[in-house]
Amino acid sequence: SYTVSELLSQNNIAPNTEVDIKGWVRTFRANRFIALNDGSTLNNIQCVVDFENFDEALLKRITTGAAVHIKGDLVESQGKGQTVEVQVKFVDVLGDSDPETYPIQPKKHSFEFLRENAHLRTRTSTFSAVMRLRSALSFAIHKYFNENGFYYMHAPIITGSDAEGAGEMFRVTNLDAKNAPLNEAGEVDYTKDFFGKETNLTVSGQLEAETYAMSLGKVYTFGPTFRAENSNTSRHLAEFWMIEPEVAFMDLPGNMDLAEDFMKSVIKYILDNNKEDLEFLDNRLQEEDKKKPQAERSEMTLIEKLKFVTDNNFKRVSYTEAIDILRNSKPNKKKKFKYIIDEWGADLQSEHERYLVEKHFNCPVILFDYPANIKAFYMRLNDDGKTVRAMDILFPGIGEIVGGAQREERLDVLKEKMAAIGIPEEDLWWYLDLRKFGTAVHSGFGLGFERLVMFATGMSNIRDVIPFPRTPQNAEF
Ligand code: 4AD
Ligand code: MG
Repeated sequence: SYTVSELLSQNNIAPNTEVDIKGWVRTFRANRFIALNDGSTLNNIQCVVDFENFDEALLKRITTGAAVHIKGDLVESQGKGQTVEVQVKFVDVLGDSDPETYPIQPKKHSFEFLRENAHLRTRTSTFSAVMRLRSALSFAIHKYFNENGFYYMHAPIITGSDAEGAGEMFRVTNLDAKNAPLNEAGEVDYTKDFFGKETNLTVSGQLEAETYAMSLGKVYTFGPTFRAENSNTSRHLAEFWMIEPEVAFMDLPGNMDLAEDFMKSVIKYILDNNKEDLEFLDNRLQEEDKKKPQAERSEMTLIEKLKFVTDNNFKRVSYTEAIDILRNSKPNKKKKFKYIIDEWGADLQSEHERYLVEKHFNCPVILFDYPANIKAFYMRLNDDGKTVRAMDILFPGIGEIVGGAQREERLDVLKEKMAAIGIPEEDLWWYLDLRKFGTAVHSGFGLGFERLVMFATGMSNIRDVIPFPRTPQNAEF
């Protein structure tokens, strides 16, 4: 048997070959034309039925959404819009689909509606294209690291430590908590019910990845991470996938070089290998754009935006320079940001990040050397005593896509920083060991995978680039 993709590209299939295919019916027109899709490609294959030769009861069961098995001859198409089609000799309905109740009708559905039908939305062209691209990007990521001498490291999901020190963790509970200790009132202490210990879902695999970098040299993680932040934005999920490379003997400029080369490489991969899906999504966006007022329309198409990233250097700007730019900017008609940056040391809001990327520089930006007090405890303190070797990468339309740093490798400085924010040394004794035994300069970063998929597909809501989004509203699947 063949996939639709193989039939349409006619790879090694001679004309008039009898072919055998299985898939789902997108439409059945005029009791004659079945548009069949099996997920192998965006396009459907047209299967032509001579209805005189088939049982009427059988034809009635060929409805949108039904799973069918077809045998027939692959022939040159008479009609427009396709080069080949299948002249059907045999059809079997493997699984019926009631046209009255099947949610995915052959028409445009809103993304909100499809989100509620996340189990069926990949039967639409848009979502199948997005998820094929998501798959291709994850392959490209593994390929890049594999070709550049990195080892793939699996960080734990259940952990006793808060890697970001931000307290945004989901606690792990055990429904059969008989191992949990009792509290003073004699009740089960549910905070300690991981066999007597308190554990959480990981917010980042970085600290564990650091331990592996300090022995294997170059490593990366690629796994699910969790944040208990109740933020309802189009860029935040409670469960998202993160890619975290970590490299021994690499400083902050080296980290920037790695991140830039990596981002360019994975985007180039899909430009080279996933043209059909990208062109489809690009056309969809251009149609949407035409409905908008001139001023809001995008200057570049999706594919132009992707090529812009692969072909241009990212702009590297220090936090201090960025603050100067923002203070002297008039971002809109009101000439003001909602949050006014009046002091060095203030954290940037997404309106500032987007202004820098989309208005001021008009290209991807790497911001570095942030004030120590707005960044995580593990970042390398600079000699000025007030900034750390942090870097965030900002992308147009997305904002922050990567966060990373050179790590604090000096035992005494790290201990002081932990003490200052109240992280007990006992909690991270193993992390401190790395600074006691063979410490060295090392750096890494975290890429939010869904934000990359958003950028690559032009989708504007993060809920539409992950199979089953986890947000305060979406957890039913
Ligand atoms: O900036 P963050 O919090 O950095 C870290 O977790 C570091 N430990 C990474 C490292 O250096 N190894 O997160 C990294 C990236 C962000 O830039 C963003 O792209 C994404 O992860 N991210 C989220 N994506 C979706 N939903 C959320 N709630 C996210 N929080 C962070
Ligand atoms: Mg960050």
